[in-house]
Amino acid sequence: MITQEMTQAVAMLRAGGLVAIPTETVYGLGADAKNESAVRRIFLAKERPYGHPLIVHLANVQQLTEWARDISPEAMRLAEAFWPGPLTLILKKQPQVLDLVTGGQETVGLRIPNHPVALALLRAFGSGVAAPSANKFTRISPTTAAAVRQELGEEVDLILEGGNCRVGLESTIIDMSGTVPVILRPGMVTAKAIMEVLGEPVSLSQQVVSHTRAPGMHLVHYAPLTKTVLVETAYISDYLQSLRPHDFPIALMTHSKCDFYKSDNTIHYVSMPHEAVPYAYDLYQTLRMLDNLHLKRILIEKVPECSEWDAIRDRLIKASHHSCIDKLF
Ligand code: TXA
Ligand code: MG
Repeated sequence: MITQEMTQAVAMLRAGGLVAIPTETVYGLGADAKNESAVRRIFLAKERPYGHPLIVHLANVQQLTEWARDISPEAMRLAEAFWPGPLTLILKKQPQVLDLVTGGQETVGLRIPNHPVALALLRAFGSGVAAPSANKFTRISPTTAAAVRQELGEEVDLILEGGNCRVGLESTIIDMSGTVPVILRPGMVTAKAIMEVLGEPVSLSQQVVSHTRAPGMHLVHYAPLTKTVLVETAYISDYLQSLRPHDFPIALMTHSKCDFYKSDNTIHYVSMPHEAVPYAYDLYQTLRMLDNLHLKRILIEKVPECSEWDAIRDRLIKASHHSCIDKLF
């Protein structure tokens, strides 16, 4: 059923407006991907530098060839296996796709989101919607309508309410435009799940892998304003003891069984889920809540090295600006 609000949202998009859209990953800031001045407004609202390409959201696979060309059978297999869902395919673009959307590249990012509100809007609109995460550039992506309001407020024409985002982290981005598939951004569709569909190995881009090797390489963060530090489980106690009185109050987020810690006046303790999927769901809401407490720092226990935690590890490294305590000092 098309609600009055949905009709209004479609009219906004047609008129070149900005509509915040709930998806299963995070809320997006949507504009008509074929309308250059509307897309330009996205960059202005987010304070995002031009040149950072946007993902175009579609309602169904039939729309794919309007945006992408030379789509390989492997890319189609991924689309069939994971769409609608939290996977973005990078494909060779059709000539008419706006440079502003692709950052001037020969490729375009495409995804069919799995959220009833997003799908209803995309179906009713009938064309591609360019939508980055609905946050200011470098900040934490919003996973609730209230968080969009906090981030962008007046700069959005309409915010569609869609509850809490079920996944909670941005989509996995896989480049399918070259000879081999490469994951550009890990998400909750894991490398292992992709490999199972393709039947061939899939590599993570050097940028993702080199997190630990080349600190400072990343320009884009998903960061709280509060200083955020990652700490190896074994060093949490030592780190806490090394802090001076003026370093408090702090937050401490752990996921392993650290019943040892309790909240008091100086430490706001958060016990996170032990499993990757519920941890991902909670992560941005928790960071946003802690950021709003204006503490001196946020301490986060490092998460496991295995593949189902790849996306979480990636976001935590970026959130902490590579500030990681992993040896005794
Ligand atoms: O889950 C998501 O992907 C959310 C929801 C709203 O769909 N969107 C999202 O968009 O996270 P954004 O703009 O915050 O991140 C999109 C990422 C950027 O890092 C951008 O560089 C990359 O996708 N990207 C988009 N098009 C690309 C292309 N043609 N080649 C390489 N990277 C691309
Ligand atoms: Mg983003």
